[in-house]
Amino acid sequence: MVNKYYITTPIYYVNDVPHIGHAYTTLACDVLARYKRARNYEVFFLTGTDEHGQKVERAAQTQGETPLELADRVVKRFQSLWEKLNIAESDFIRTTQERHKRAVTELFVRIEKKGDIYLGEYEDWYCTPCETFWTETQLMDGNCPDCGRPTDKLKEESYFFRMSKYSDALLKHIEENPDFIQPRSRKNEILSFLKEGLRDLSISRTTFSWGIPVPGNERHVLYVWFDALTNYISGLGFPDDTEGNFEKFWPVDAHVIGKDILRFHAVYWPTFLLAAGLPLPKKVFAHGWWTVEGQKMSKSLRNVVEPHMLIDTYGVDAIRYFLLREVPFGLDGDFSHTALIHRINSDLANDLGNLVSRSTAMLTKYFNGILPAATVESAIDAAFIAQFPAAVKTVDEQMNALAFNKALQTIWTLISAANKYIDETAPWALAKDEAQKEQLETVMYNLLEAVRLIALLVAPFLPDTAKSILLTLGDTNRDITLEGKDDWGRLQAGTAVEKAQPLFPRIETA
Ligand code: MSP
Repeated sequence: MVNKYYITTPIYYVNDVPHIGHAYTTLACDVLARYKRARNYEVFFLTGTDEHGQKVERAAQTQGETPLELADRVVKRFQSLWEKLNIAESDFIRTTQERHKRAVTELFVRIEKKGDIYLGEYEDWYCTPCETFWTETQLMDGNCPDCGRPTDKLKEESYFFRMSKYSDALLKHIEENPDFIQPRSRKNEILSFLKEGLRDLSISRTTFSWGIPVPGNERHVLYVWFDALTNYISGLGFPDDTEGNFEKFWPVDAHVIGKDILRFHAVYWPTFLLAAGLPLPKKVFAHGWWTVEGQKMSKSLRNVVEPHMLIDTYGVDAIRYFLLREVPFGLDGDFSHTALIHRINSDLANDLGNLVSRSTAMLTKYFNGILPAATVESAIDAAFIAQFPAAVKTVDEQMNALAFNKALQTIWTLISAANKYIDETAPWALAKDEAQKEQLETVMYNLLEAVRLIALLVAPFLPDTAKSILLTLGDTNRDITLEGKDDWGRLQAGTAVEKAQPLFPRIETA
């Protein structure tokens, strides 16, 4: 039986253009999707855009365009960024697509049939930037408790979802499934929220029209979060499921999101699913937020880090590496050019780049690029080789835990070990002594085999770099597979290896 893996990003609002915060979530999912594919999982990786709601409607008004014109324009910005960032998604869902509207309507109807939707009157406060309802007592000095911006008083007829009914079931689910909400600190946050009990949730609006109409009452449009969350199943083909992806991939293995939207994913979404009689996600993982040079990223501060420019300056793999190496996934982090340049020079140019260029250059020099066989084994060789299987196993555990920075650290211990192996075995000295020929052959084999395994392990993070290293080693496969290739000794003696071009030029700073 083939293992399956379904992973999602949040869908991005089209009122804003993409910045590194968005790139971060998508990148993390891409890395995990690539890793799972390399482990022979059948992967479905979904991303997309959230195009309805008051926020998008207002942004379009300000720009003098229709909401759909705005969405059509901005969606291209996201798609071109994903292409440039080497994101290999399986599908891209837009909430204005028919397939999505069909799914949202069906979800509403199912919950309504269950008796969990009723018409009532809403009288509370609404924060449009957060698309969130608040009660009077939740406000902070009259403003949104999340973002601090002013809220609008709303009094209107509204459909309500009986969320209160599902408090206990959800609590029980969280307690019985310790991995459901991660990291643990986030889970505690949701638990304390739930312990206060859930109110019913207003899920429709009548004061604007940019949304999906409520089935049977077109004066109402559905609340944008009811609409948006459904992307996770509409993207799989729910409810018609003509291609069988819903059947195959639901429930999702991991919803990866930022910490700001955890409540929607860990409370609203699971209760909708409970009401509709659908299985709950296996995991919701909330990562931290990036600040820039110590400050919150914001348009008004003009410090929004534009990913296109970063990629043009430093290269796509360097950015992919930095974002996932610098900060433990789950914690907040700070973006600075100094830190980025430091990582590129030390980890990529020095450690990885030098290892590959030294190894292939020595092989060219001593053996004309033809890989010899390893025929002897000293204690140094044995100790070096022994590190690999252990690290491969550790990386697997760390990837499954979404501990990307730890997985990279583990891979880098191998890179350091390989550089140290060169220094300790001193091939240039062995080459001067004909009696040491077999030892030299062994060292060169071990080094190039180490380079191969390291390339396979970094591949989800650094896809272009890994392919170029593997090509140097004569591997022309387009797809990278770890399964069955991650054990020591797979590289064939006799392989013609090319001398590698420098992978990461050092960045000189003034
Ligand atoms: N449209 C909703 C999500 C609906 S999912 C059913 C939304 N969109 S968003 O465009 O505002 O944000 C999308 C993601 O980007 C969120 O996970 C958010 O946490 C992430 N980030 C936005 N700014 C960020 C940083 N500065 N740092 C890290 N991630 C950030 O919310």
